[in-house]
Amino acid sequence: MSLPPVIAIDGPTASGKGTVASLVAQKLGFHYLDSGALYRLVALASEKQGIDSKNGPELGLLIPKLLISFSNHQIFLNGEEVTDTIRTENIGLRASVVAVHPEVRLALVDLQRSFRQSPGLVADGRDMGSVIFPDAVLKVFLTATASARAERRYKQLIAKGISAKLSDLLQDLQERDARDSSRGAAPLIIAKDAKVLETSDLSIDQAVKTVLDCYQSSIA
Ligand code: C5P
Repeated sequence: MSLPPVIAIDGPTASGKGTVASLVAQKLGFHYLDSGALYRLVALASEKQGIDSKNGPELGLLIPKLLISFSNHQIFLNGEEVTDTIRTENIGLRASVVAVHPEVRLALVDLQRSFRQSPGLVADGRDMGSVIFPDAVLKVFLTATASARAERRYKQLIAKGISAKLSDLLQDLQERDARDSSRGAAPLIIAKDAKVLETSDLSIDQAVKTVLDCYQSSIA
């Protein structure tokens, strides 16, 4: 029996892939995997437990002990609701540090693949098409200029009532991009069979429609 189809949506920080991926999943009635949330959960759990973010082996051992669940747009870690806690810039930066370790990446592989359930999955992250779901029926690499991404992040934070400085956000995301692209284990790369979608001048609806159109052509 063939496995349920996967649409892999990868791209750099704040490229809009989370919003686009969850809307595509909603339109198709597919499951949705926000793989970045898993790295953020590891960042938060290790911070709480005082584990050094540079200690790959210890972080790798921590992961199987974590109780992670996603339910109704809420995320729980060891029974505690942490949906907003993991979205801070601090946790995002720490996530990009813990994500460098092969032990951490390996410990999250099965969990990520377990989201592949009928009728299908939309997965977003950095290595969905290149490593986790190499047989994805559609691979999209979503991107936008660093300044467009910083501006989007700035608007999101302000809308949530969180104060932010555009120049700090730009610097943070450039730092994260550099770390994600230069690491040895599963770096952020454009899978060779991925469709690149530059979203600086696209609305969310246009990006969602483009992905849906590509999916329809890939299964036709
Ligand atoms: O996508 P998001 O910003 O939530 O991801 C947080 C961090 O987790 C990223 O900066 C990246 O370092 C890491 N990550 C990863 N591989 C993924 C998803 C996220 O390395 N598939």
